[in-house]
Amino acid sequence: MKILIFGKGFIGKRCKDAWGDQAILSDARVNSKEDALAEILKHQPDAVLNCVGSTGKPNVDWCDSHQLETVHGNTLVPILLAEACAEANVYFLHMGSGCIFYGDSTHPDKAWREHDFGNPLPTYSRTKYATDLVLSTLPNVGIARIRMPIDHIPGERDLITKIAKYPKVIDVENSVTIIDDMIDAFYKLMEKKAEGIFHVTNPGTMRHRELIALYEELVDPDHTNEWITNEELLAQGLVVKGRSNNFLDSSRLLAIGIVMRPIGVALRDTMEKYARNVGKVGKNG
Ligand SMILES: NC(=O)c1ccc[n+]([C@@H]2O[C@H](COP(=O)([O-])OP(=O)(O)OC[C@H]3O[C@@H](n4cnc5c(N)ncnc54)[C@H](OP(=O)(O)O)[C@@H]3O)[C@@H](O)[C@H]2O)c1
Repeated sequence: MKILIFGKGFIGKRCKDAWGDQAILSDARVNSKEDALAEILKHQPDAVLNCVGSTGKPNVDWCDSHQLETVHGNTLVPILLAEACAEANVYFLHMGSGCIFYGDSTHPDKAWREHDFGNPLPTYSRTKYATDLVLSTLPNVGIARIRMPIDHIPGERDLITKIAKYPKVIDVENSVTIIDDMIDAFYKLMEKKAEGIFHVTNPGTMRHRELIALYEELVDPDHTNEWITNEELLAQGLVVKGRSNNFLDSSRLLAIGIVMRPIGVALRDTMEKYARNVGKVGKNG
């Protein structure tokens, strides 16, 4: 399979590294359908993966003070890419986010289904959800929603490195995405040209406390941090808006035969690899 990736950020580069010669990481800045179409016609891919986004620096709070830039990266560009893919008759997989759901769903298990309506609050989540609404019914288009990616390669965007560095951590329970499993699921979604929304999260949930306990067991027994609540995180000015915490149901992925490892198994495996990688590059990258 030949995959054309747009968006040379954290996930785009990680997917390119994993897929090697099967993937092309586009250098193009996409600001029109023509920009995207030129790249697609040049490379003739079997599938396009959109890893473009306005994710905010140093974090998503940036998006609230840069609303139009955020709309551009998270909503306009994906629609332009979808138009170009439709014109070239190429399957399009767009990266969505599970952070469009805040709190519990109304289902008895509290988990959000793929086609539940979101309740996004901050600009980042609103712009991601707006895109899901317009792309989710298009033919030959899939949306892969991930949450809080966890990688075995230490780096500032990976959840292990981020959480281990914070002196104050909230102990929340969430659906999360192990990057190795995500890369495999993305590949299979593109192979199958799967349409509609998919929650690309590992079955089960994870508490930050579990991640830190494994970190202290396998990476750094001397690690310490203070535990605070989501409300204290806001009240102490450590973030501008409260973070999304939720559980996602990933039945649609399973229904088409794409299996991700249970989070307990995948997290331990990832932390063991992370520990070996820290040994190579020095603690916390
Ligand atoms: N990482 C996560 O925690 C997470 C979780 C859920 C969903 N997602 C979604 O996954 C996708 C990839 O995330 P990421 O973590 O890899 O983000 P990232 O590191 O910020 O990468 C996004 C990339 O898109 C580029 N970009 C922005 N506008 C562009 C344009 N018009 N044309 C071409 N490239 C453009 C950015 O370049 P510049 O920096 O130069 O603008 C950046 O390299 C995003 O859609 C994000 O919303 C990420």
